[in-house]
Amino acid sequence: MKLTLTIKGVARPILATIISTSMVLGANAQDGEQLFIRNCSACHKMGTRLVGPDLTGVTERRSEDWIKSFITNSQAMVKAGDADAVAIFNEFKVPMTSFPLTDTELTALVDYLKGFGAKVETADAQPTEVIEEVPIEYTEEDVTNGRLYFQGGQRLAGGGPSCITCHNVTNDQVIPGGLLAKDLTNAYGRMGGHAGVAGILGAPPFPAMTNAYSGKAALTDEEIHTIAAFLSVADDSSDQDVAGFEGESRMLMWGFGGLILIFIWVALVWRVRLRQSVKEDILKRQLRSI
Ligand code: HEC
Ligand code: HEC
Repeated sequence: MKLTLTIKGVARPILATIISTSMVLGANAQDGEQLFIRNCSACHKMGTRLVGPDLTGVTERRSEDWIKSFITNSQAMVKAGDADAVAIFNEFKVPMTSFPLTDTELTALVDYLKGFGAKVETADAQPTEVIEEVPIEYTEEDVTNGRLYFQGGQRLAGGGPSCITCHNVTNDQVIPGGLLAKDLTNAYGRMGGHAGVAGILGAPPFPAMTNAYSGKAALTDEEIHTIAAFLSVADDSSDQDVAGFEGESRMLMWGFGGLILIFIWVALVWRVRLRQSVKEDILKRQLRSI
């Protein structure tokens, strides 16, 4: 007893030191690049504009603290009226995801961004290339397949969960979905069209989705293309307000239908039970014996 106590007494501080050092080392070594690839690359690419702006030289435009708080919660800065945050949000109109990162991680990220800071002011420096969105063609079949993937009618090749597990889309051909995550009815427009949706599905920056679609479960290009097609149509058709109403009345109908089925089932089971009731037999016997 005493022995274990003393071991614990010594081991604790040592363990604590090991753990905290390895955490600090981990965050430093886990250099900003990894953090950037995992969390930011869906929307940002160095040298070009994607869903978000080109971040080349951003550490010269903005202070370190500004960047850190923008990553932590950009919308809070917009709401607080920070001039730079408001200006850039008005330009892109897509709210950037908030990242609850530690200060060590934020510093690692900023250090990584600094690596792209020194804009080479040489004569042959290329101006920032702006990717013009190539018009994307979706076929009817794409839309149908995307809807099937979305709601699980067609399994995803990598075995990941269907989107409807967590997301809802208001569309009269889709049963109501999960409320765990954002409604995606207007996600297509919100994410800036095909490039935005494809970027997010290719490397989801949200932990819940990263876990669901990482490694072998990664979505294929075909899945991403068709799901984008479906989301594009869902966004368009939601302009007619009817879609929302139909979605709701549909949910009501499913609810009512289910309730009636349950009633019928209960009634049937009950009748069978009554007929075979042991108590009934006993009662009859007793009645006869009176
Ligand atoms: C969902 C897409 C998305 C993700 C993911 C994302 N960003 Fe952004 N980011 C944007 C958009 C869009 C803007 C433009 C500002 C706005 O619309 O609010 C922006 C703006 C910024 C800015 C300000 C740029 C400037 O010129 O002032 C910085 C810095 C930034 N992002 C860093 C990051 C970092 C670092 C990550 C990863 C931790 C990240 N972003 C992840 C979409 C995203
Ligand atoms: C395990 C739950 C889960 C699954 C499954 C899932 N997502 Fe997500 N998704 C999230 C979470 C959490 C977010 C972060 C935003 C939020 O809180 O809604 C998100 C965000 C998004 C966004 C950005 C929305 C916005 O406007 O910021 C898109 C687009 C999206 N998901 C598409 C999909 C698609 C398409 C699928 C199916 C291939 C899918 N998701 C499957 C949980 C999930």
